Amino acid sequence: MSDLFVELTAPNGVKYTQPRGLFINNEFVKSKSGETIISINPSDENEIASVYAAGPEDVDIAVAAARKAFKDPSWRDLDSSARGDIMYKFAELIDQHKETLATIETWDNGKPYSVALNEDLAEVVGTIKYYAGYANKIHGQVIDTSPAKLAYTIREPLGVCGQIIPWNYPLAMAAWKLGPALCTGNTVILKAAEQTPLSILYLGTLVKEAGFPPGVINFLNGEGRKAGAAIAQHLGIDKIAFTGSTGTGKEIMKMAAVNMKNITLETGGKSPLLVFDDADLDQAVKWAHIGIMCNQGQVCTATSRILIQEGVYDKFVAAFKEHVAKTSIVGDPFNDDTFQGPQITKTQYERVLSYIESGKSEGATLVAGGEAYKDVGGKGFFISPTIFTNVKDHHKIYREEVFGPFVVISSFKTEEEAIERANGTTYGLGAAVFTQDITKGHRLARLIEAGMVWINSSNDSDIRIPFGGVKQSGIGRELGEAGLEAYTNKKAVHVNLGTKL
Ligand code: NAI
Ligand code: MG
Repeated sequence: MSDLFVELTAPNGVKYTQPRGLFINNEFVKSKSGETIISINPSDENEIASVYAAGPEDVDIAVAAARKAFKDPSWRDLDSSARGDIMYKFAELIDQHKETLATIETWDNGKPYSVALNEDLAEVVGTIKYYAGYANKIHGQVIDTSPAKLAYTIREPLGVCGQIIPWNYPLAMAAWKLGPALCTGNTVILKAAEQTPLSILYLGTLVKEAGFPPGVINFLNGEGRKAGAAIAQHLGIDKIAFTGSTGTGKEIMKMAAVNMKNITLETGGKSPLLVFDDADLDQAVKWAHIGIMCNQGQVCTATSRILIQEGVYDKFVAAFKEHVAKTSIVGDPFNDDTFQGPQITKTQYERVLSYIESGKSEGATLVAGGEAYKDVGGKGFFISPTIFTNVKDHHKIYREEVFGPFVVISSFKTEEEAIERANGTTYGLGAAVFTQDITKGHRLARLIEAGMVWINSSNDSDIRIPFGGVKQSGIGRELGEAGLEAYTNKKAVHVNLGTKL
């Protein structure tokens, strides 16, 4: 076995071969510098594996491979049904390897295995299939003007796309970006987050088998400031798609200006969840819990600000607290009954703990959690589900994205106040509204500044429905038909059929 692969046995007994290289031109290779990054199991803080980390030289090599694949032999010009068939094959292979992929995801990221398998992997397979279906349904238009002219549009791929993904949903974020890019004929260089490189590398082993020509899909590991920045600034890359923090999104925007790259950004949030006096309270409690506590609270769309109308405030807080205590079971992510695993890294764990201190010192009321959870062998980055009430608009914990199992609850009097406070943030990703008054629900959906509004649910995501933010939560849309817009240009062709000057 070469240095590029390592045999591993995961905590659940699954044995598999873990690639350690960069995946370029359908081969795993070492990084030019020989630099590596170490991936950690957040449940016990032990090393899982070290993998090669890309630097600017490796990005150059990947760009050359992706450029060649775009043109020659052409992925762009391949029969569109054949392109779709390769993607279907890829989806089938992912499905066949889903237990291994889910195992790696849980081991490296800490999310519960049942979630990795039944939610994340199902979404990955579904997304690749969904966009495979679009491959032979991308077409331009003929636009009628006058008999003297034929005008039509061609939907062209953008070229080489750089895609930078985060660690909270490694495989799903890869699928959201690969699907629309590939079906429209682009080639891709995708960089995994340095905290979770392992599942993406394993995905690389399925790319060649699916039949993608060399260079169409390239996977790089590496640190954001090195490999990520090299991608964002590369003159040979035509587009950048990014999911992650708002701060990094802004830096990427600046770097992408170097050659005016097309950009799609999906960044942070502080999404409100509004519960009106007339709401079905059991439903509101159930969804409020899902909306903030799933995936260890590491969700960009998490409804992390709960705003309750005065008439039901006390009742909601009591029921919510009880529901969280009952259902947010913290533990080993490979245990069947675990709802919440560890935070992804020590940095994120400390960040959440620092927000807990901030909440306490600013005078909010801690009603649950508020500390590290040490009952999983005394190790790992576990945090008790944390609820603060009596939170004021100027509190840091009310304004900033925490990205953990951490929620703030506040009350409001009127609908006007609810809208004003829901919108009183620099973010605009999601928003949830609980009311049994359908007129009010739809009215609020229009008035709230967000890319997605859930009426009587929270964080309901569907691969067929556009996903993205307004304000500082991002630019552009992923998923659904809207996701294709981010990966094609409409070229206009004007044909003179009769005008002679
Ligand atoms: P980050 O935004 O810095 O990292 C996300 C991705 O961007 C990673 O692949 C990283 O390598 C890359 N990256 C970092 N700096 C870069 C640069 N200068 N140029 C190019 N690529 C770069 O997020 P981080 O530091 O891991 O997490 C910090 C906070 O970001 C979290 O607490 C959370 O608030 C937010 N976040 C939001 C996510 C979302 O789904 N919207 C996902 C992950 C983090
Ligand atoms: Mg890890």
